[in-house]
Amino acid sequence: MSLLERLKAQIAQDGPIGVPEFFTRCLHDPRDGYYATRPELGSGGDFVTAPLVSQMFGELIGLWMIETWTRMGRPARFRLVEMGPGDGTLMSDLLRVGRLAPDFLAAAEVWLVEVSEPLKAKQAARLGEAPRWVSRLDEVPGGAPMILVTNELLDCLPARQFVRTQTGWAERVIGLGADGALAFGLRSINPPPRGGGVRAADGGGSPVAPAPSPSGPSDHLPRWGEDLEAGSIWESSPAQAALASDIAHRLVADGGAALLIDYGRAAPEPGDTLQALQNHRKVDPLETAGLADLTVWADFPSVVAAAREAGAKAGPILTQGAFLVALGIVQRAEALAVRQPDRADQIGRQLDRLIGEAQMGDLFKVACLCAPDLSPPLFEDAT
Ligand SMILES: C[S@@+](CC[C@H](N)C(=O)[O-])C[C@H]1O[C@@H](n2cnc3c(N)ncnc32)[C@H](O)[C@@H]1O
Repeated sequence: MSLLERLKAQIAQDGPIGVPEFFTRCLHDPRDGYYATRPELGSGGDFVTAPLVSQMFGELIGLWMIETWTRMGRPARFRLVEMGPGDGTLMSDLLRVGRLAPDFLAAAEVWLVEVSEPLKAKQAARLGEAPRWVSRLDEVPGGAPMILVTNELLDCLPARQFVRTQTGWAERVIGLGADGALAFGLRSINPPPRGGGVRAADGGGSPVAPAPSPSGPSDHLPRWGEDLEAGSIWESSPAQAALASDIAHRLVADGGAALLIDYGRAAPEPGDTLQALQNHRKVDPLETAGLADLTVWADFPSVVAAAREAGAKAGPILTQGAFLVALGIVQRAEALAVRQPDRADQIGRQLDRLIGEAQMGDLFKVACLCAPDLSPPLFEDAT
C-alpha cells in the first residue's frame, strides 16, 4: 500500500492528523518517505539548492569559516559540522577552500548530521570516508568548539498551521473529504486552552531535535492575531526553534558559531508556506505524499529568539544576497570568468541566481548563532 493509501486508512480509523505529523510522515516514513527513499537533488531531480547552483556558494562559506576559526583563536581541534548535507557538494566546496589554511583543515574534524540513507551514500561517494556520520546533533561529541553550517534544513522541519476564523483560531488538520481524498480541515481551539486541549501534533518528532514538550496553541499565536483577516494562516515551528536551541546550547557550552541558511521570513508574518516540489514543479502536497519534497519557510525570528533564550548571541538576519556580496562573490565570479572565458555567461547566470533579488538573493536568509564571546565576520552586531 502506498503512503497515501496508508495515511487515508489511518485517518479513516483514527481521525484527522496535524500538519506536522503529515509532513514528517511524507519526508521520513521508513518505507515511503521522500528522504528515506527517493531524494533527488539537482537539475535532473526535484529541486536545486544554492551549493548546486555554483561552487562559489560553498567556497565563500569556507572563507567565512576560516575567518571565524581565526577569531576563535585558531583552536587546534574543532568539530566542523554540516547538518542535512544533501549530496555533499557544500562540504566538498568548503573543504577545498580550507586548503588555503592548512592549519584550519588539520584542526577540522568533519561531522555530517544526516537521516537519509540514500543521501548518506551520495555524501560518501563525494567525500570519501573522512567524515563521520550521525543522525542527530547530540550524537556529535561535545568537549571541543564547533563551526556548523546548514543549508535548507530548517525548511524540512515541520510547522503547525493555525487559521484565523470569524470566531477565533483553529488548527489546520488533514482529514478525508467527501470523495475519500485527503483534504484540509479545521480543528477548533476556541476558547484557547491553557496548556493543552489540542493534541501536540509535533509528537511525530523530528529526527534532528527531540520532540518539543506539548504546549497549548495559544503559545504559538501572535498576540496581535485578532487583527488578522479571517482565513489568514499562522505558522509555528517548535521543531525549528528546538533545533536552534540545541545548536545554541552547544555553542554556549563549547564555543563556536553556526550559519543557518534557508528560504524564509525575516519578520513575523502570516502566510501558508507549505509547498511540495516534484521535478521542479509545485504539486499538491495532499496528492503526492512521499513522492515530492515538502517544505515550509524557515521562521528566522523564532530561530533567533530560541537561540538567544538558550544563551547564545544570534542575528542579525541577512539576506543571502547581502551575505554573499559582503563575502566577495562578485569578485570571485569575475576571477572565475577570467580563468574560464568560455563559461563567463554561465558564471554570470549562476551569480544572478544566487544573489539576484528576484531569485535566491532576497528570499533566502542567513542567520548566525554564536558563543557569547565570539564576533564572527559579518555578524559583529549579534546580540
Ligand atoms: C533540501 S536538502 C538540502 C541539502 C543540502 N544542504 C543542499 O543545500 O544542497 C535537506 C537535507 O536535510 C536532510 N534532512 C531532512 N530532514 C532532516 C532531519 N529531520 N534531520 C536531519 N537531516 C534532515 C536531508 O536528508 C537533506 O540532506
